Amino acid sequence: MAICISIVVGKGGAGKTTTCVNLASAMAMDGNKVLVVDTDTQANTTMFLTSYKLNEKAFGGKGLFDMIRAWGLIDVENYIHPTQIEGIDVIVSNDATPLIPQQLETLEKVAGIKAEEFLLHALSEVAENYDYILIDTPPAQNDVLVQNALLASDHVIIPVKLDEQCIDALKLSDGLRMQLEKDYDTEINLLGILPTMVERTALTSYYLDLAFVNKDREENPAAEELAIPYADKLFRTYIHKGNVINESSLYKKPALLINKKAKPCVDYVNLWAEIKERMGV
Ligand SMILES: Nc1ncnc2c1ncn2[C@@H]1O[C@H](COP(=O)(O)OP(=O)(O)OP(=O)(O)O)[C@@H](O)[C@H]1O
Ligand SMILES: [Mg+2]
Repeated sequence: MAICISIVVGKGGAGKTTTCVNLASAMAMDGNKVLVVDTDTQANTTMFLTSYKLNEKAFGGKGLFDMIRAWGLIDVENYIHPTQIEGIDVIVSNDATPLIPQQLETLEKVAGIKAEEFLLHALSEVAENYDYILIDTPPAQNDVLVQNALLASDHVIIPVKLDEQCIDALKLSDGLRMQLEKDYDTEINLLGILPTMVERTALTSYYLDLAFVNKDREENPAAEELAIPYADKLFRTYIHKGNVINESSLYKKPALLINKKAKPCVDYVNLWAEIKERMGV
């Protein structure tokens, strides 16, 4: 049975998609079979994995929305597409993704499946075909697709740029995770907080030192907020800023397929090793 991990934070541009596609690549290069689910209207994950952009009509009307619309009539397997990377399949986002919330409400009325539990049901149909399922999510705090991702997941990764706005968003997203655990009497483990786009500037060094080395916390309220509740949740690995990520947009494929030796790529491979250690697999 696949282990399902979602990448969630309600702040745009935090590194969710970059983390999703490169972590999936690291998993696949390590011999795993991976299913990626793109729940974001921007469809960036779909583009990195398949090279198709949102405006290019592809996948024959078989995206996430279409899967929801055909629920009960057509098997989930029919909505899974191969990607440019061996070992990775994808459920794509397309131009109908904005209609999903409404479609989920309809489904709840006609089929009695709770709108926020759709992915949990759908992915359980195909979970035995994969080692891991990764879900990329939109930059929203409490939207029905973020709820779907969290409720379908065993684990959550929260990527953060080390700034105040992202740290606020981290707390809200983790709050949602805990709320859902309570409301649905389930376990959604916070696997870790991942610092992304790290540059060795004075400010990031400051945050990282405080977070990792545990010094001076009492003297700085912002650092205290980050470090105290989350210090043991920060990954040892953090992702450096690097040009290879920009190149990867240009070439429309994950950075790990462009230059494995580039710093952010080495970081993503190290992250995968650390994740395995944390999950005990
Ligand atoms: N390690 C990195 N080095 C350099 N640039 C990066 C890195 N990680 C992400 N970026 C860039 O930062 C921007 C945001 O990254 P990404 O799309 O992964 O964030 P996101 O959280 O998925 O955003 P959204 O919430 O809009 O979906 C992108 O332009 C991406 O190329
Ligand atoms: Mg994204």
